[in-house]
Amino acid sequence: MQKPISGFSKWNKSQKIDWLINTYFDGSTDAKQTVEQYANADEKLQQLHDEFIENTVSNFYLPLGVAPNFLLNDKLVTVPMAIEESSVVAAASKAAKFWLERGGFKAEVLSTTKVGQVHFIYNGNYDTLQSYFQHIKPRLFEEAKPITKNMEKRGGGILDIELRDKTEQLDHYYQLHATFETLDAMGANFINSCLEQFAQTFETGFDAFNTDSSNLDIVMSILSNYVPDCIVRAEVRCPISDLKDKDIVDPQEFAERFNQAIDIAKVEPFRAVTHNKGVMNGIDAVVLATGNDFRAVEAGIHAYASRDGQYRSLTHCSIDNDTFRFWIEIPLALGTVGGLTRLHPLVKFCLEMLGQPNAKELMKIVAVAGLAQNFAAVKSLTTTGIQQGHMKMHLMNILNQFGANATEKKALVEHFKTETVSHSAVVSALENLRH
Ligand code: MEV
Repeated sequence: MQKPISGFSKWNKSQKIDWLINTYFDGSTDAKQTVEQYANADEKLQQLHDEFIENTVSNFYLPLGVAPNFLLNDKLVTVPMAIEESSVVAAASKAAKFWLERGGFKAEVLSTTKVGQVHFIYNGNYDTLQSYFQHIKPRLFEEAKPITKNMEKRGGGILDIELRDKTEQLDHYYQLHATFETLDAMGANFINSCLEQFAQTFETGFDAFNTDSSNLDIVMSILSNYVPDCIVRAEVRCPISDLKDKDIVDPQEFAERFNQAIDIAKVEPFRAVTHNKGVMNGIDAVVLATGNDFRAVEAGIHAYASRDGQYRSLTHCSIDNDTFRFWIEIPLALGTVGGLTRLHPLVKFCLEMLGQPNAKELMKIVAVAGLAQNFAAVKSLTTTGIQQGHMKMHLMNILNQFGANATEKKALVEHFKTETVSHSAVVSALENLRH
């Protein structure tokens, strides 16, 4: 049985790789070549990647695609997408083109407030705690000044700090619930530094105020990735008759069926999860390409999707007389400064391509990518079904898996223009070709 290893993090990269190869791959040179072939020849660039995380042994590539023709608030945008799933970029591009001819996307940021909390346990009288909070509140702001002064100069900072009684949910549990404006920064470091300072000020001042020898114990101080007051809305709309295209023969019927599909995703969580997964195909890809934290975005958005107690669709649809309207409203805490945004060369490239957006502009672009993705998916689902297009895109993956060369690929792409793609059909067509 394998023994635990100690001191691993201190080894250099080649020692780590050798250990992996000897431990898990019987010393295979092929395995070593697999992991090493993704190292960048440019040593400085490789070092940059090595230092993003710990114990880096290689780079894990994702394709970076672009979806052009997004008309967003009357400006054309080419959207960068880092994603491994076939069909997603194609679907985004198709939806962009579809709406380009119908007035484009409109988006607006409705709010930009971020949240952080100091969670603590207190076993004394609530009135005393409230008086203490009122007494210490100005000092919470004051002692955080060294952290907040630059942000304040730019127009951001701490918006408010509240004392919240959570004892109905958990015995003796209270919070300092703070709200922040972090402008173009995602704000995690800023918020967490403020919170740790609040905790220290709050705890230190408590002893002098504490006359009934009650106990105050800070459990943790951390931002929340749930940002229901940092909201962006994006929408498309057009006269129903304008929805006609090669897959939409009867626009009225399409609009109604599409609307029905959204209603289903509102009431049925099994469908809502897949529906929103499609939305996240667009959102995550842009969030990743622009160097933002997709786990934070995912967690916050899914919590928002279940804010009334049931998990529901993130997108909405209405048919008012002759007008078809389709929109999304989501929480997004994004940054266009700090983090990876000035470090990762491809992130810099993507942000430049987008015209160096500020955080609000990026929120709009990301929301539009999510909406477009969902439009494309639900349009396919309610008309042709998704497998036809999906399997065409999947064809290349299957061909690559079986090591098809360029001539074989060309012949089989041609062949499957008129044949149904399935895994077995591709394999047998490739075999036929090879014999
Ligand atoms: C696949 O990645 C996403 C879809 O399943 C989304 C949906 O069903 O709406 C096509």
